[in-house]
Amino acid sequence: MSAVITTDRLTLRRIWLEDAPTITDLVNQPQIYRMVVSIPAHQTVSQTEDWIAKQPAGRATNTKHVLGIEKDKRLIGIVSGERKQANMPFNLGYWLAPSAWGNGVMTEAAGALIDWLRERGEQGFVSGYLVDNPASGRVLEKLKFMKADRRPIFCMGRGERVDHFNMARVG
Ligand SMILES: CC(C)(COP(=O)(O)OP(=O)(O)OC[C@H]1O[C@@H](n2cnc3c(N)ncnc32)[C@H](O)[C@@H]1OP(=O)(O)O)[C@@H](O)C(=O)NCCC(=O)NCCS
Repeated sequence: MSAVITTDRLTLRRIWLEDAPTITDLVNQPQIYRMVVSIPAHQTVSQTEDWIAKQPAGRATNTKHVLGIEKDKRLIGIVSGERKQANMPFNLGYWLAPSAWGNGVMTEAAGALIDWLRERGEQGFVSGYLVDNPASGRVLEKLKFMKADRRPIFCMGRGERVDHFNMARVG
């Protein structure tokens, strides 16, 4: 099933192959790829298309729900819930175009995805952020996540290990 979630200011909808150039332009900004551990520096449109092509299978197995964040009909970011298998908690991931930062957009978008997953019976979520990304930590705190532990993780965009806070939310 493919969700369309609407909030006061946003529409969250599935990603299409046609979105690949826009997404590639956005994630090529260092403010994004240096903070999202799974995004390489200099991602190509073809790599973005491969990532998009895997999404229907993830939706079908209820292990991957990736939604584009639209504001005023423009795609400005991504929010996702992913897990290795269906009996595990979803891991919340997200990024937003820097021009849209600081207006509560991600708290609104990620909160809406969590509500949607909870309505489908999901309980408990995990996430995390790199230690030099306090804005992301604040988003998670506003969404009722707690710090679980701190350990290094490989960040593709930086090509090195960086300390990372693991976060968890009950319910
Ligand atoms: C992290 C990110 C998603 C936040 O998006 P956003 O829409 O600006 O977030 P919100 O406005 O909902 O909330 C941000 C909060 O962080 C706070 N914040 C911003 N910069 C901060 C800083 N340097 N130190 C501490 N808090 C900070 C804001 O004041 C706000 O909190 P408040 O509502 O209590 O004032 C966005 O900056 C981003 O996409 N960054 C790059 C990619 C990324 O980091 N993805 C997450 C990987 S874990």
